[in-house]
Amino acid sequence: MKLTAGDRVAIITSGGDAPGMNAAVRAATLVGLTLGLDVVGVAEGYKGLIGGNLVPLDPRVLDDAARRGGTWLGTARSKEFPTPEGQARARETIAREKIKALLVIGGNGSLTGMQTLVDVVRTAGVPASIDNDLAGTRLAIGVDTAMNTIVEAIDRICDTAAAHRRAFIVEVMGRDCGYLAMTSAVAAGADSCLVPETGRSEEALVDQVVHAIEAAFQKQSGKRRVIIVKSEGVKMDSTRLKAAVDARVLKTLTDVDTRVTVLGHVVRGGAPSAFDRLLAARLANCAMRALADGETGFMAGWMGPGVTRPPCSYDHYVALTPIDEVLRETAKLMSGDTPVAKWRRKVFEDIDVVLSR
Ligand code: F6P
Repeated sequence: MKLTAGDRVAIITSGGDAPGMNAAVRAATLVGLTLGLDVVGVAEGYKGLIGGNLVPLDPRVLDDAARRGGTWLGTARSKEFPTPEGQARARETIAREKIKALLVIGGNGSLTGMQTLVDVVRTAGVPASIDNDLAGTRLAIGVDTAMNTIVEAIDRICDTAAAHRRAFIVEVMGRDCGYLAMTSAVAAGADSCLVPETGRSEEALVDQVVHAIEAAFQKQSGKRRVIIVKSEGVKMDSTRLKAAVDARVLKTLTDVDTRVTVLGHVVRGGAPSAFDRLLAARLANCAMRALADGETGFMAGWMGPGVTRPPCSYDHYVALTPIDEVLRETAKLMSGDTPVAKWRRKVFEDIDVVLSR
């Protein structure tokens, strides 16, 4: 059933923030208002839904917020929401506040949360997570900005690394997904990349790094720096990895100095790139229009490999995939069991030979 003028749609940003979330809130709000809907925000994700913490969405405030990172609405990793009491209170808020539809902007956990409410409210998801670990979308909002941030940081590290002829292990976020590490490594011209998907033993990881350092510094390659991008999903601690690498390398290359830089939350902050703002606007536009047209229980994703649904009628680059399919395929993606996962893994395995030349 279509939404009618005056129906209330609540927008939530949830889980880890991602640059571009504000742009998605802005676009969804503007489109919702244009369609005659009553659009409100929920402060601090599912925590705010439980507490009934609704906030008005002023387009002029959002104009400014859309240029910034983080999320103006706030977010939280709610431990209460998955509990029976949390669920009951969230449902009370939905009924009391007459929320007809919920638009959730977030990653895997947030969309899993959204699925628990499909029986009481219409739902739409917009993928936003720097990890790019969701199925049903070629890219999630925030990935492009995070990649640009990493590349800029590595460019800076390269300056000082080359000055001293040093090797750097640069650890980047991405949870259990190596996508961000790998794409950043390629874009930044790194010498090697360690990702969880290859499933390498600690010994093999040390071998990989030692090989990259030796190839760069031993063979008259002309390189004055080595950059190893390590995904945080690789469970070997970076300091321990450095110690193990030093123990091997210093036997033959006595003057090699290895350092570790953990970029951490630097990767998640910052103003969204133009691409992330546009992606956010286009996905949010389709999500809001589809909700208004009576669709429910879906995620609006960017067309590309692994997206099985045809483009929607609102935008030829956006597909609406049922949320249960998104979550099922996401679990398979992360366990390495989809064509995209298999292709990524092959790239991860093949690319090191090329990077370390
Ligand atoms: O999912 C986004 C993400 O930034 C991951 O890359 C990272 O592992 C995690 O969130 C960190 O979460 P928190 O800020 O809650 O420690």
